[in-house]
Amino acid sequence: MPTLLSHDELLTHFAATFGRRATLIARAPGRVNMIGEHTDYNDGFVLPAAIERETRIAAAPRSNGRVRLVAYDLKRETTFALDDIRPTAEEPWSNYVCGVAAGLLAGGYAVQGLDALMQGDVPIAAGLSSSAAVEMAALQAFSAAGGFTVPLDQAARIGQKAEHLFVGTNCGLMDQLASALGRPDHVLLIDCRDLSYRPVPTPAGATILIADTAVRRQLTSSAYNERRSQCEAAAQALGVPALRDATLAMLEQADLPEVVAWRARHIITENVRVLATEAALRTGDLAAAGALMDASHASLRDLYEVSSAELDAMVELLRSQPGCFGARLTGAGFGGCAVALMANDSVRAAIPTVAAAYRSRTGLTPALYPTRAAAGASFVLL
Ligand code: GLA
Repeated sequence: MPTLLSHDELLTHFAATFGRRATLIARAPGRVNMIGEHTDYNDGFVLPAAIERETRIAAAPRSNGRVRLVAYDLKRETTFALDDIRPTAEEPWSNYVCGVAAGLLAGGYAVQGLDALMQGDVPIAAGLSSSAAVEMAALQAFSAAGGFTVPLDQAARIGQKAEHLFVGTNCGLMDQLASALGRPDHVLLIDCRDLSYRPVPTPAGATILIADTAVRRQLTSSAYNERRSQCEAAAQALGVPALRDATLAMLEQADLPEVVAWRARHIITENVRVLATEAALRTGDLAAAGALMDASHASLRDLYEVSSAELDAMVELLRSQPGCFGARLTGAGFGGCAVALMANDSVRAAIPTVAAAYRSRTGLTPALYPTRAAAGASFVLL
């Protein structure tokens, strides 16, 4: 698991790397999604929270229109010119930042060159949106350096476009919105059609437990993009603008290819589960919220087919613990993390028990850690 440098350590490394002082630190968190998986690109509902793991960027403006970007954790660096930004295959990690710079320029913002040092503790390819954290931290750094403000929904769209055009994943907007909008001790009910959102207090009696299977996602872009195309095909066949507008009754009357119908059934039922989970959390009905999370996992496993043997094992072990209300895979799937909603006083005992059982079942060493819901992206000028 990566660890986060203190501000002082980050600034010391910045000075040692660039021979000058940083003038700002930007930050943006990863996210965990409580429920509402693969619904975002179907104009549907999601319920994520920003987490206590984040990407930070220490930076100082440069006057020559170039960005020199150092990734502390990866021990890589690259430089690009603002008047000639293109995706790079040599330094793929930097595409998230290049893509954000390109999106800001396209939006007419006065982007300046930067010296920038990036560091963070969001695990990569674990389903906790390390890429959205990089995008939203970069956006904060560019806007702090350039003295402009970007509305948060536009910020999220710029991050999403960076993924589409510079990375090749046709993602939805959930991750960037969660990273931008996060609120301490709240999950966010986001309507991905009009981007309106309502913060929902995390229930006092429960803890969000993240359980990393230690399996990193692979070939996600192709499988993810395929799911997205299947959803679009289903919406077209059902005659609706997006699966958000479809119902089970419509699905039952239509004659869709079997797999496409499974995908659509997941999306239609998942949207209903998200709204029901919001209601359950608001009334403190943790058992109901947990049951909805369990049902979401089954649907992602059987209908959307994005789970894995390790995720299924982790979810089953989490659920078998006393005090676990519910558990499911979180994020795109295909590896990465599960999330559980646990009674506060059960978490401490569950962590070593689940870790040991998972290790003996899979031979892998997982990471289990509770998180509180955290604040969204921000910056400080130094
Ligand atoms: C990834 C994408 C999101 C969303 C989830 C699945 O995290 O970036 O837009 O589609 O998968 O819910």
